[in-house]
Order: sequence, then C-alpha cells, then structure tokens
Amino acid sequence: AAGCPPNCDCLESAKTVHCSHANLTGVPRDIPPWVQNLSIAGSSIPLLNKTSFANNGSALDNLTSLLLRHNEIEVLSASAFEQVPNIKTLDLSNNCLNNISVDAFAGLEQLQHLRLNGALGSSVEVQLVNALQTGNLTSLIELELADNKLLSFPSYTSSQLQLEVLNLTNNSLQFVEAGVIEEWYQQKNLQVFLGSNPFICDCHLKPLLSWLKNNSQVGDARSLRCFGPEDYNGTSILRLQVKDLRCLNEDLETVSYVFFGIVLALIGVIFLMVLYLNRRGIKKWMNALRDACRDQMEGYHYRYEQDTDPRRTNESANSKH
Ligand SMILES: *[C@@H]1O[C@H](CO)[C@@H](O)[C@H](O)[C@H]1NC(C)=O
Ligand SMILES: *[C@@H]1O[C@H](CO)[C@@H](O)[C@H](O)[C@H]1NC(C)=O
Ligand SMILES: *[C@@H]1O[C@H](CO)[C@@H](O)[C@H](O)[C@H]1NC(C)=O
Ligand SMILES: *[C@@H]1O[C@H](CO)[C@@H](O)[C@H](O)[C@H]1NC(C)=O
Ligand SMILES: *[C@@H]1O[C@H](CO)[C@@H](O)[C@H](O)[C@H]1NC(C)=O
Repeated sequence: AAGCPPNCDCLESAKTVHCSHANLTGVPRDIPPWVQNLSIAGSSIPLLNKTSFANNGSALDNLTSLLLRHNEIEVLSASAFEQVPNIKTLDLSNNCLNNISVDAFAGLEQLQHLRLNGALGSSVEVQLVNALQTGNLTSLIELELADNKLLSFPSYTSSQLQLEVLNLTNNSLQFVEAGVIEEWYQQKNLQVFLGSNPFICDCHLKPLLSWLKNNSQVGDARSLRCFGPEDYNGTSILRLQVKDLRCLNEDLETVSYVFFGIVLALIGVIFLMVLYLNRRGIKKWMNALRDACRDQMEGYHYRYEQDTDPRRTNESANSKH
C-alpha cells in the first residue's frame, strides 16, 4: 500500500502496521494515519522522545495499541508518547530501560494496559515509580512487571493507580512488606500475580501468608512455593501455617536469654562456693581486719589523749617563753 514504511506490513482493512526485524533505529516517519494497531519488534531504537511518533507533523490519533517489544529501548524522555495520546495498550516488554523521565507517561489518560515485562534495567525502579505517579494514568487497570528481578514493590504505586491486575511473576521477591500487603488488601478489585518468586518462608512472610489465607486476591496463590529456608524449599506456601514461619533470629534471641540466665546463675553458685570453701581464710582475714581496725582506733585514741593532756599544753606554752 502507498505510504507504508519500508520493511513494514500495512493492512488498512485491519488498521494494522507491523514492522518486524526491520533494522529500524527509530520509529518510521511515514506510518499511515489510519493505523490503530502498531507493532515494531526486533529493531534497535535506544531512545523514545517527544518527536519519535511525530508522523510528518500529524499525531496518530487513532492509534490504540502500541507494541514495542524487543527493540533495545533504553531511554524514555519527557512526553515520549505525546503524539499517540489515545493508546490504550502500551507494551514495552523485553527492552532495557535505564532512564525514564518523570514525565515519560504524561498525557496517557486513556492508557489501560502497561506492559513492562523484562524491561527494567538495574536501579530504574525509582524512576519508574515517579513516572507512574506523575503521569496522569487515570485509566490504567493493568500493570505487568514480570521478569524484572524486582526485590520489592513500592507500596504507594498501587494505591495511587486504580489497578485491577498487577503482575509481579518471575521477579526476585523474597517477601512482601506488611504495608504493601495492607494496600493491596484495601484495593478489593485488585488481582495480584506472584508466581516464580524466590520467597523465603520465614517470619518476614507472615503478612503475605495471612493475606493469602483470608482472601482470593492472589490469582496464582496455589502455585507459590518457598525457595528457602532449606527445610521448606519447594513447599507450597498455602500449606504452611503462620506459626510455621519462624526466623533464626527469634529463636537465637530466646536461646541467648536462657544462656545468659544460666551463665549468671553459674557465676552466683561459684561465688557462693568460693565463699564456703574459703570460710577459714575469710575468718582469718576478718580477724586480721578487725585487729588492724583496733590498732588504728587505739592510735587515734592515744593521739586524742595526748592532745587533750593539759600538762602537754602547759609544757609547750612554757617552752615558748
Ligand atoms: C489490535 O490491538 C488490540 C489490543 O492489543 C487487540 O485486541 C486487537 O486484536 C488488535 N487488532 C488486530 C487487527 O490485530
Ligand atoms: C480515525 O477514526 C475515525 C473513526 O473511526 C475515522 O472517522 C477517522 O477517519 C480516522 N482517522 C484517520 C486519519 O484515518
Ligand atoms: C487527568 O486526567 C483527567 C481525565 O482522565 C483530566 O480530567 C485531568 O484534568 C487530568 N489532570 C492533569 C493534571 O492532567
Ligand atoms: C524470568 O526472568 C528472567 C529475567 O529476570 C528471564 O531471563 C527468564 O527467561 C524468565 N523466566 C521465564 C520462565 O519467563
Ligand atoms: C486479612 O489480611 C489483611 C492483610 O494482612 C488484614 O489487614 C486483615 O485484617 C485480615 N482479615 C482477617 C479477617 O483476618
């Protein structure tokens, strides 16, 4: 068809444009304006900015689905999607985002599904959270963050967004903080997916387990398994009781208090034994002390008597004259 970018497939009847492994280094400039579904995959497009979708000056107003998987995208600049303001689905999965502007998602008020599976470079999480908060994502109902090595999920993200689906499968979560669980619990319409995370089934997992047991918000609850400690490796988390989740530290603390008590008692007993076995020596020592005291007192007494002896006073007075 006329006006189809090189190496892309354009199908006007379906309103779709596909550019797969087209060796692109940026979004093509001549995308047909009727496009509703645009998919670009397998190219190398390191940067998306304000002008990336400026299609010869006209915004792609009819575009609702924008799929940009596997394009080595690293940077999302401010207002990167300004020219595609009506997208409902944005898929940025399998890229390597390491710089996300706080205004990257500005203006995406229609966006319902945001997919960032395997898309986050290291230490970009804070930037993402800021961008999600700053963007006016009032329609967003689904956020996919699978395959990202995430260690935690920031609590305030989900409460600001009115999410219905949150996918955190195949990350590096060892537990979920009580505050986050509480927020998820408050959002009654939210479904969370948590499979394939290396959960450590110790005391830190208590909030998650009690939440798992009292509602059905976790879509894949049955598939959750303990990764550690060793005794629980592979155990289904749902089969555990909250009281099974213990920390070595808790036990160590109790043990150390008991140990401390025993040591104190031993010291006391030894002290009493030393006193008992050495009672003769102590008696002798007491006697010696008493004698020493007596000598001392007598010395005082003697001096006192001398000082108050009137004859001595006279004597010294006489010697002066
Ligand atoms: C366009 O995208 C939407 C959402 O991703 C999808 O449901 C629909 O099937 C797509 N249409 C075509 C013709 O590919
Ligand atoms: C966008 O969609 C509307 C409604 O389907 C249609 O009237 C309009 O012509 C489309 N715009 C373009 C540029 O094709
Ligand atoms: C956010 O989006 C809503 C509509 O979804 C709109 O009414 C509101 O003005 C927007 N706020 C900002 C700050 O853009
Ligand atoms: C899980 O995520 C890693 C990246 O963190 C990825 O390499 C791997 O393919 C994913 N596994 C599955 C089963 O999707
Ligand atoms: C269910 O779990 C949530 C989150 O931990 C907690 O706030 C709530 O009190 C629990 N409800 C019941 C009935 O146990």
